[in-house]
Amino acid sequence: MTRTIIDDEAAEVTISDQSGERRYPLGSAEGFAAVSDAWLRAGWDAKHVYSFTWMGRPIIQLPEDMIRIQELIFQVKPDVLIETGVAHGGSLIFYASLFKAMGKGRVIGIDVEIRPHNRSVIEAHQLSEYIALIEGSSTDAAVVEQVRGLVGPVDTVLVVLDSNHTKDHVLAELRTYAPLVSVGSYIVASDGVMEKVAGGPRTKDDWSWNNPRQAALAFAREDPRFEIHEPEWLFNEGAVRNRVTYWPDAFLRRLK
Ligand SMILES: C[S@@+](CC[C@H](N)C(=O)[O-])C[C@H]1O[C@@H](n2cnc3c(N)ncnc32)[C@H](O)[C@@H]1O
Repeated sequence: MTRTIIDDEAAEVTISDQSGERRYPLGSAEGFAAVSDAWLRAGWDAKHVYSFTWMGRPIIQLPEDMIRIQELIFQVKPDVLIETGVAHGGSLIFYASLFKAMGKGRVIGIDVEIRPHNRSVIEAHQLSEYIALIEGSSTDAAVVEQVRGLVGPVDTVLVVLDSNHTKDHVLAELRTYAPLVSVGSYIVASDGVMEKVAGGPRTKDDWSWNNPRQAALAFAREDPRFEIHEPEWLFNEGAVRNRVTYWPDAFLRRLK
């Protein structure tokens, strides 16, 4: 367990954990990281990510993660982004809006259950021409066949995994979708935050190991074509060094 004490007046943060007590200036990289960890945990408990929409659709994401993946999308400029886990469609609409603005790219969204209301709102959306929906489990052979049929042989492909977050399922998704990822592009195993918030409310006993981060680390060990790679920040004039994120160690870059 970590205890974080923020002293606004002294502009300091004190952290106590099993390795002892440390004190940092609030505005240092370490101070900011400690406060961010506490904020992430508070946000988890308060369901902060269940409070945003993108162009009318609920998007269950931390806004910083969306800004960061926007930076990556703008660099990779994919022809196709495949996302597993559609829910209300907010993230699909987010990616579609970037592709419209960039004049390039489209999205394939896969969900085991696309509720009729969500489907009809997504299909009626002004960005629907950028979106293809596939219903079924992301690792089902027939679903994967449909996805392959929608990807051209020279398309640049980026994949975001945001469906069932067990280690086994994410590892199966990584093995299934990694071959579609272009060299230099990424497959992203989202929501490894489960490991960080394990033990808190709305968590399960096995989250310390049964989570997407562990799947990404295992996949990087087994497949030499991929490495965990933090996309470079294009701009940083501050002291912050690490993402404040629900997606720790999520970005697997294809090397060859
Ligand atoms: C966290 S939500 C997706 C959130 C969405 N990407 C967003 O940013 O708003 C997870 C979704 O994954 C779907 N799901 C669960 N298991 C799945 C599976 N095996 N294959 C595909 N989708 C699955 C659920 O139905 C749910 O809609």
